[in-house]
Amino acid sequence: MACFGRSLDSHCTLALLVGFQFAFVLYFSLGGFRGLVSVLVHTTDSEFDYSRPHDVYTNLSHLGAPPPPPRNSGTGPPATGPPLRDCQIPSPLLVGPVSVHLSSPLSLEEIRQRNPLVLPGGRYRPPDCEPRHHTAIVVPYRNRQTHLRALLYHLHPFLQRQQIHYSIYIVQQWGNGTFNRAKLLNVGVREALRDEDWSCIFLHDVDLLPENDHNTYTCHKQFPTHLSVAMDKFRYRLPYPQYFGGVSAVTPDQYMKMNGFPNQYWGWGGEDDDIAARVRLSGMKIMRPPVAIGHYKMIKHKGDRGNEQNPRRFDLLKRTRLNWRSDGLNSLTYELLSKELEPLYTNLTVDIGEDPRLPPGKLPFLVKATTSVHQRSTSMTGERSKQEKRPERAVAANTTVAKSDAARTKTANQMTQQKTGVMK
Ligand SMILES: *[C@@H]1O[C@H](CO)[C@@H](O)[C@H](O)[C@H]1NC(C)=O
Ligand SMILES: *[C@@H]1O[C@H](CO)[C@@H](O)[C@H](O)[C@H]1NC(C)=O
Ligand SMILES: *[C@@H]1O[C@H](CO)[C@@H](O)[C@H](O)[C@H]1NC(C)=O
Ligand SMILES: *[C@@H]1O[C@H](CO)[C@@H](O)[C@H](O)[C@H]1NC(C)=O
Repeated sequence: MACFGRSLDSHCTLALLVGFQFAFVLYFSLGGFRGLVSVLVHTTDSEFDYSRPHDVYTNLSHLGAPPPPPRNSGTGPPATGPPLRDCQIPSPLLVGPVSVHLSSPLSLEEIRQRNPLVLPGGRYRPPDCEPRHHTAIVVPYRNRQTHLRALLYHLHPFLQRQQIHYSIYIVQQWGNGTFNRAKLLNVGVREALRDEDWSCIFLHDVDLLPENDHNTYTCHKQFPTHLSVAMDKFRYRLPYPQYFGGVSAVTPDQYMKMNGFPNQYWGWGGEDDDIAARVRLSGMKIMRPPVAIGHYKMIKHKGDRGNEQNPRRFDLLKRTRLNWRSDGLNSLTYELLSKELEPLYTNLTVDIGEDPRLPPGKLPFLVKATTSVHQRSTSMTGERSKQEKRPERAVAANTTVAKSDAARTKTANQMTQQKTGVMK
């Protein structure tokens, strides 16, 4: 989110100067930013014709078909439990560039009807082959209903064509406090891994829509991936070399290696640069798809109330090197208020607390402050003292736990338990 909604030059160049001495040196030694970008990312735009995109629902009707009978056994009813063949890689259903509607032409109910194989909670598993990828999409969220609808309209058919097993999690920050994207992402990762042993977790802004289905929503085995390398907003280029905002992906192992994401970035900006720094500080690097594939369109919007620029972001970034081991997954506290399995997504509503540094009466936005919420912030060191709770009322709010257990699959369970064991 570092550069969203602001002028590129002022913000992003500053981020470079402040956060990444490494990039800073390269920046000058290679004679500037464009040179560096083209070193890092191949440009083969000619491969795809974005001027003639397919409808995003192309080929979806194939998905309803029952699995074809096994080739060598001609007779009798299909046996009950023959193992499905592995899904092909790449998926034969892919079409390349797809058209993007920045606002959904359909209502939620109509989107559900267009995606009959999506299960409650926004889950999907290919009906006719055994998926090789298990991906949770985590979307930090507050008050962006039209964006959410556009995302769901687009992402469900997009992902089904990739033949992956996936689920979409919306992590909604409860209350009116300053938005904290990175902390919501931490919560989303943790809650998603309570559901299933996802092999890959996508960190996805609600306002970004992928334009090419060859951009597969899967993880690199070794290193975190940054997917939104070519956004229309940045004229289909990386805005700066270490940019990690928009859409990125980690495996649970990679996530733990970098101690998750920072919890202390309240307000807009900086947190994605911190995450990129964590990748580097924990001995990893950032993988990226080719620019020709990583095309995204961003839904235009004004800045959000409650998500004002974080004035501390540069100070925080200077200290990432010192803080990343102590602030992150291992210091995460929150309260899950409800978990609802909606037809097209799982709605996690969480209380992540408030910025402890905000002096009372200086709320960056104008709601006549709810002092009761303020009094619950207890410490000046960035974290509330209360322990993470999973209160009974979360269950009372009809979490449909049984359903999600039933949706657990053999394959998911076969995957290493240790990944999530550490987190639980
Ligand atoms: C998917 O759609 C494209 C474009 O319409 C078509 O060429 C292709 O054959 C379809 N693939 C499958 C597996 O049906
Ligand atoms: C948030 O603000 C709205 C008014 O803008 C108010 O109605 C609502 O109660 C507030 N919510 C919380 C949790 O304080
Ligand atoms: C998520 O659940 C909360 C609590 O029930 C509700 O207030 C909110 O509107 C829901 N959000 C979405 C996007 O469904
Ligand atoms: C949850 O919802 C189901 C179906 O809507 C209902 O039958 C059940 O009583 C609800 N459970 C709770 C705890 O509210």
